This record gives sequence, C-alpha cells and structure tokens, in this order.
Amino acid sequence: MIFLELGRQPLANGFLTKSQFSEEIFYDLKMNFDEETKLVSLVEQPSKEILFNENYPYHSSCSATMRKHFKDIANEINKFNPKLILEIGSNDGVFIRHFDPKQIIAVEPCGNFASFTRDLGYQTYNEFWTNDIAQKIVENHGKVDVVYAANCMCHIMDIEATFKSISEVLSPDGVFIFEDPSLQEVLETITYDQFYDEHAHLFSIIALKKLLERNELKIFKIEKTSVHGGSNRIYAGHSHDIQESVDYFIWKELETGLQDIETYYKFTQQVQKSKNDLISLLEKSKDKCVIGYGATSKSTIIYNYCNIDSNLVKYVIDTTPDKQNKYTPGTHIPILSPEIGWNDSVDMAFLGAWNYLDEILSKEINFRSRGGKFITHKNGIFII
Ligand code: TYD
Repeated sequence: MIFLELGRQPLANGFLTKSQFSEEIFYDLKMNFDEETKLVSLVEQPSKEILFNENYPYHSSCSATMRKHFKDIANEINKFNPKLILEIGSNDGVFIRHFDPKQIIAVEPCGNFASFTRDLGYQTYNEFWTNDIAQKIVENHGKVDVVYAANCMCHIMDIEATFKSISEVLSPDGVFIFEDPSLQEVLETITYDQFYDEHAHLFSIIALKKLLERNELKIFKIEKTSVHGGSNRIYAGHSHDIQESVDYFIWKELETGLQDIETYYKFTQQVQKSKNDLISLLEKSKDKCVIGYGATSKSTIIYNYCNIDSNLVKYVIDTTPDKQNKYTPGTHIPILSPEIGWNDSVDMAFLGAWNYLDEILSKEINFRSRGGKFITHKNGIFII
C-alpha cells in the first residue's frame, strides 16, 4: 500500500557541478507499507551501482559524533574477544580501525573506500554483499563471531536474501549487530527526509522480527542510539536468551501503530503540513539572508519536495571538501565552504544536518548570540 509520495527526486547524495545538470537522474519517490510483513520500503530504488560506487561522497568519519559512536561500539564488541569480525559496509574504516587487521574482514562496494581501508592494512572485499561473497568468506576464513553493519542493511532492497546469507556466515553462537534509522522516530518527529533513494527500507522492529525469524535469526537485544536522527541497534543470533528490551521496543511500536496503515496516512498529512509551514516561513523571510547548514542527502529530499531553490535558501554550507563549490541535487542551490559562507551576513540557517543538532549548537554559540536563528523541520517547523 503506497502511503507517501515525495515527487520527482534526484539522487539524494548526487551533489553536482553545473556541467552535470543536464545529465541528472530523477525517480519517483514513493513509500510502500507491506501489509503482510509490515515492512516500509521504497517503491522504486535507482540501481545500486548508481548509488554506491567509487564517487560515494559520504564519509562516516566526517563528524566527531560519528567517530565517538563507532569507537564506543568497537570497544563494547572488543570486550567479548571475538576471534573474527566481519563488517558489511565499512565505508572509510571508522569502525574497523579499532581492531587488529587479523581480527576483522571488511566488505565495501564503494571503490574509493575499499582501496583506502586496504591501504590501512585491512582485508577489504570491494563488492556488494551477496550470497556469493558470504560463501567466499566462509571458505576463506571460516564462520564469523560478529557481523556488524551500520546504516547498511536499510540500503539493501533484497533484505530477506541478505539476512539469509548473514545467518549462514554467522557461527552458532555468533552475534549479528546492525543499526539503522528508526521508523518509529521518523513517524514521531515527522522527519520525512529519512525517506530517500539510499534507504530502501526504514525498519520497524515488528517487521525486522518477522524477516529475521524466517532466516533463523532471533532478535535478543535492542538499544536506541541518537545517531542519524535516532537509530535502533539490533542484536540477533541463533541461540541467545531474549532480553526485556525486545518486548519493550515492540510494545512501543504497537502503541504508536506501526502495524497499521492508518498511522502512515496520518503521517502523510503531517508531512504535507510541514511542507506548507516551511515554505511560508521561507517566503516570509525573503528579506533576510537565509542559508542551509549541511548539504545532506536528507535536505535534498526537503528542497525538492518543497521546491526550495536559491530564491528561498541563498546557498548551503558544508564542511565536506567534495561537496563544496558544487550544487545541491535537483534544485541546484550553490554549496560553499563554511570558511566562505558562514559569515556575519547570515540571519537564518535551515538545518540540513539536523541530526547533529547538539554538536552544531555547541559549536555555533556566536551565531545565536548575535541574533542568528536556526530553522528545523523536526517535530514541525521551529525556529531555534
Ligand atoms: P549526514 O548526517 O550523513 O547526512 P545524510 O546521511 O543525510 O547525507 O551528513 C552530514 C553532512 O553535514 C556532511 O556533509 C557534513 C555536514 N556537516 C557540516 O557541514 N557541519 C557540521 O557541523 C556537521 C556536524 C556536519
């Protein structure tokens, strides 16, 4: 059942130069709720080779928040002394660097990152996760004690086949730990920009439980984490005792109604209101200097769904060198480095990187003390 249509959208991470405008790829962004499994997924996803390749711009190490996040979970996992760990989607090595190269194997489809982590001495398979690579790993290394995947499972359209091959790679008492943005959080905070091309699914625990159990994996523990706008960290295995957290998370989701299509229709109405409120705030602020803070994939969805171009948001600043001096996908707002764009003429900044709110507020005390305001769409349109 389709419940949300966010219109024609470009690749969310497809920051581009002027000469690339004519080649830009668009697709219809629609979200589906599957009545049987309760899984929420994209109806159409651009091909994975277009999304994840040697030009992939997102570096997991880009912020202090993410570096600490991965250090903390690596320390937790290290306490169990696992003989062999596998990370699926190792990006720039922000997680694997906390382990001895003999102890960990990485799988990463983006060639730029795979060669980077290989150069650091880590065995990295430059491939998409498939059943073939799973079998190759078991043949070459034996079964694995910990499979870890952060913001990766939600990227994979054929999620059942993926869980099946992970189940086969895992040793009998091994643990599969994965974390992805929480659907419950998206619905509660109206952060509809979490629906984008890379997120083939946004998971509820209700759906995950069903899909994992079909593949001999049981969720035995769940933790909430604050990264990526609110994520769930799921622990699953073949033989573990189920902890109280699992029942608690499922109870919360049932309370919210994540099993019920009506909940999603109500969410869609809130999304439409969020769009109207944001446009009217930006229209009213046309005499001020309004910019974007953070050229995120998520903000691409908002700018395109709300038809926001440089008439409403003059430019966007971002710390990532690869994004600077390019344009935002679809509505082509210029992207500048903070060194150039974060200056005293800025009156208001729309938070594209709203998921780093705490880090940004503590860094940008001067901006707010001189009267500057942040705009966020989280929980409705607010000025901070
Ligand atoms: P990210 O949170 O990964 O968003 P998405 O997954 O939607 O692409 O990206 C954060 C972006 O925000 C990244 O390009 C870096 C940028 N950023 C800043 O420019 N300044 C900051 O202070 C922070 C925290 C992030």
